[in-house]
Amino acid sequence: MNNKAIGVFDSGVGGLTVFTEIRNKLPNENIIYIGDTKNFPYGNKTKSEVIQYAIENTEILISKGVKIIIIACGTATSQAIDILKQKYEIPIIGIIEPTVEYVKNKKIDKIGVIATEGTIKSGAWERSLKNKIENIEVINKACPMLATIAEEGKAKSIEGKKIIKEYMRPFKENHVNKIILGCTHYPIYEDIIKQELGYEVELINTGKTVSNYLKEYLKKYNIQNTEDRKLEKIFLTKPEEKFKEIAKNIMKVDITINFL
Ligand code: DGL
Repeated sequence: MNNKAIGVFDSGVGGLTVFTEIRNKLPNENIIYIGDTKNFPYGNKTKSEVIQYAIENTEILISKGVKIIIIACGTATSQAIDILKQKYEIPIIGIIEPTVEYVKNKKIDKIGVIATEGTIKSGAWERSLKNKIENIEVINKACPMLATIAEEGKAKSIEGKKIIKEYMRPFKENHVNKIILGCTHYPIYEDIIKQELGYEVELINTGKTVSNYLKEYLKKYNIQNTEDRKLEKIFLTKPEEKFKEIAKNIMKVDITINFL
């Protein structure tokens, strides 16, 4: 039993797709979120920059007394999780491992992965999938513009739809029907992706795999909060005009924004 908060971070609004799944699936848990809007986007930054941002976010969350850290960002998971795990004693969960477990349990043998440029270049998804699942075929596609368009609140615009059409081409041509949304901003595009593909497809939302994994983890180590939730706080590192509106679309509730 442990009533300390769960610490969650991302480069911006995307990690709220993970935050939302956690707050719904674990209704007693206190949660503190950091959206590192000052350094957004992470997807086109160097590995050492991403590591630096991940360290800063982790240290802020630790200073706020969290019991566990969730990296609600594909880019930071792919490039910084190993370093963070070496550096800190606090448990740290990224979005890749829980999702690979899910794919493995589902016995999927051909999968698409869409993510930021930095994530795809790191090869982390493909490596992790192939390490755990024999003979799995992985089709990767970097989608450099998607997080930025979502962060600007333009995901459902003509621009958003046009770019989805282009990014979905390799999947549509090969009729890939399981795709990992390897960046936490991408669930915002779920409907548009399904529309563009036009066939039955499972889009794997990492928020769902992470929140299931987290629930089991808290139970296994007996660190669930058994009292009612008292704290739910969202911090940004820089004001961002559209954040509140996009957050409401994702979370279906009004939020208060705090600044670091
Ligand atoms: N939400 C992020 C991810 O999952 C980052 C997008 C970005 O900052 O470029 O990769």
